[in-house]
Amino acid sequence: MTFSNKLITWYLVNKRFLPWRETKNPYAIWLSEIILQQTRVAQGLPYFEAFLNTYPTVTDLANAPEDDVMRLWQGLGYYSRARNLHATAKKVAYELNGIFPPNYKELLTLKGVGEYTAAAIASIAYDEVVPVVDGNVFRVLARVYGITSDISTNSTKKEFQTLAAKLIPHNEPATFNQAIMDFGATQCTPKNPDCSVCPYINECVAYATNQVATLPVKLSKIKIKKRYLDFLILLDANRDTIIEQRTEKDIWQQLYQFPLIDSFDHNTEDIAKAITEKYDSLLYIKEIINLTESPIIHQLSHQKLHIKFWVVKVDQLPGTPTQWVDLNKFGFPIVIHNFITSVDLKTLID
Ligand code: ADE
Repeated sequence: MTFSNKLITWYLVNKRFLPWRETKNPYAIWLSEIILQQTRVAQGLPYFEAFLNTYPTVTDLANAPEDDVMRLWQGLGYYSRARNLHATAKKVAYELNGIFPPNYKELLTLKGVGEYTAAAIASIAYDEVVPVVDGNVFRVLARVYGITSDISTNSTKKEFQTLAAKLIPHNEPATFNQAIMDFGATQCTPKNPDCSVCPYINECVAYATNQVATLPVKLSKIKIKKRYLDFLILLDANRDTIIEQRTEKDIWQQLYQFPLIDSFDHNTEDIAKAITEKYDSLLYIKEIINLTESPIIHQLSHQKLHIKFWVVKVDQLPGTPTQWVDLNKFGFPIVIHNFITSVDLKTLID
């Protein structure tokens, strides 16, 4: 049996039932792929359902206020993807009459749609014969064919694309692409795959040469920076607070946060001094309460955040007050959202 016959036979028995597999609608498929760039299938499912229920068509999404889109995306991280999602919905709705570009090449012109996403949409929605190459595909092919090239380079990506293009059957590109992704996600897993039940056990080079644990090879190491974030929950006598929108080109752009003392190189030791400096001594501080004994560690792709929350009781808020009960109207980074939903304000104040 060929590689693809074996794969598709495996898929027919083991495929995951996913809502975006019941449709050929490019909008729904695009939505699912953008969400799955960001998270695993299990975590992505509720987001997919929420987006499709809230915005059944690309025009509905295009017409939505940006803040609403960001709030629905909350928790997926990498918020530039949500902004690209919204920008692309506007382009399709307003410039392309609500019709998604009809092939791989034209799909590539959309913001946030790279080679992988264009191949996924073109093959799944339009049955175009273009192979997807994602982390799963790297892993499956590197192991079965014993490819030891470093997958972080562009030339290796080409090597895998060429191989996948040879393997993809012309009559079933959609099935092949989804099958290889499912196979990578559930059978040929990164850690401890159960090779005893694998259909490729007799030909897998990695299995025969004891390289399952070391393939694929990924050499590049990104440098992770430490960052210290002290969020200030300023509270006046009415228990109103202040939030602000992040506008800089940085993490969490467009989302909301509490006023922040932000440092890349050191932990804030004297918070009272830092607050006074931030507000140029204009703030009359009544009390400061540390709400995070040890910092909350939040790992992003290139930064390790050490987060603390401080309650700062003041006479007068240095800006427009927001009521605590209204905070859920704003999109926050998930770590702040979780904090807001877990904190019991009453115990802080009295
Ligand atoms: N991961 C991303 N897209 C996928 C799809 N269509 N099927 C399975 N896994 C995926």
